[in-house]
Amino acid sequence: MQLKDFLEQNGQSHLAEHLGEGDLAARLREIDWETVSLWKTGESPKARGHIEPIDGLRLAEIDARRAEYEAIGNAVIRRGGVAAVLLAGGQGTRLGSDAPKGAFDIGITRPLYIFEQQIRNLLEVCSGAGAYVPLLIMTSEKNDAETRAFFAEHAYFGYPESYVRFFRQEMAPAVDLDGKLLLEAPGTLALSPNGNGGWYSSLVRAGLDREFPAVEWFNVFAVDNVLQRIADPVFIGATVASKKLCGAKVVTKAAPEEKVGVLCLEDGLPAVVEYYELSPEMANARDEKGDLLYLYGVILNYLFRADRLREIASERIPVHVVKKKIPYLDGQGTLIRPDRENGYKFETLILDMVKLAGSCLPFEVRREREFAPVKNRTGVDSVETARELLQKNGVIL
Ligand code: UTP
Repeated sequence: MQLKDFLEQNGQSHLAEHLGEGDLAARLREIDWETVSLWKTGESPKARGHIEPIDGLRLAEIDARRAEYEAIGNAVIRRGGVAAVLLAGGQGTRLGSDAPKGAFDIGITRPLYIFEQQIRNLLEVCSGAGAYVPLLIMTSEKNDAETRAFFAEHAYFGYPESYVRFFRQEMAPAVDLDGKLLLEAPGTLALSPNGNGGWYSSLVRAGLDREFPAVEWFNVFAVDNVLQRIADPVFIGATVASKKLCGAKVVTKAAPEEKVGVLCLEDGLPAVVEYYELSPEMANARDEKGDLLYLYGVILNYLFRADRLREIASERIPVHVVKKKIPYLDGQGTLIRPDRENGYKFETLILDMVKLAGSCLPFEVRREREFAPVKNRTGVDSVETARELLQKNGVIL
């Protein structure tokens, strides 16, 4: 069928007159129309199954068995069994900078880039284990060249370049509130990174699973936690010993109403439930010791077993439809930056992979030692709070 007719049938005839511009026609051929059609259901949250608390490994037990877990983890690292996957494809819109988030300078009296701090954390592990860990960095079309150049310019912050690989995640289109694909420039669709749930398929597409066949565990983590412990041998050892197919670093919730996704069981499978999906009764429920029943907040640091990822690779991960402010070209060709939500983006989320994995060990970490997210410029989870936490951990800024 002619692309023009196809557009008409899919309610996209507004694009027909632009087909000769830029790479529009080629981009349109790559579009996953099944995903785009999800705009019809809008942002409405999906019904959840039966939610119950999940058992996790608490600090006291981890501390008691630390040496045992660490030895197991270090042995896996030494045989090349762990790869670290740095999710750096996000746009960091809340931080309000167009540069890659990891290139953000969090220093005060001297530069300290987020990437630099993360590499330092990883180097500590490598020196303890006596081996380097492959570091696979996911970027997006928007920041790939800049991220690579940044690492090269800073000599990979002392990490051996031969252990570093970059791979790009895919992009997804955006539509207005009536499902019409938006343009951001003449002949250019408004595209944005398709969420962090596509990391494994993008990694496979880049051939990195075949390049590192010895990898038994992928440790996947967010760029924006500057206290992130990457390839933590204790976490690896505990997850291996638990025989679970996935592990999640968690912090205990500071208060019932804290806005953090909570790891629990949904219809018997591990799942992350958003804070707004928990009823006030559930959020406040406590066990006989007085601990919250839904206690474990996820911090986006997961271990996934490689063989399980291969098994679930063909399963479809849910697509989330999210309302956002999306800059677009109006009918006159003027770029409009809307001040309220004007359309939908389509994203998959890594937290949905926990359920697909089938079993998961919640592994408690000390919040003040391992969780300093940089999401906003000021206020909660901001540059300011992260600086404070870094200093508390002895990092000179
Ligand atoms: P966030 O959900 O905080 O999104 O990402 P973000 O894009 O960085 O920031 P905002 O919401 O626009 O302010 C959590 C982690 O997932 C990665 C981010 O880079 C971060 O490490 N991520 C997010 C991707 O790698 N790709 C994406 O498409 C989205």
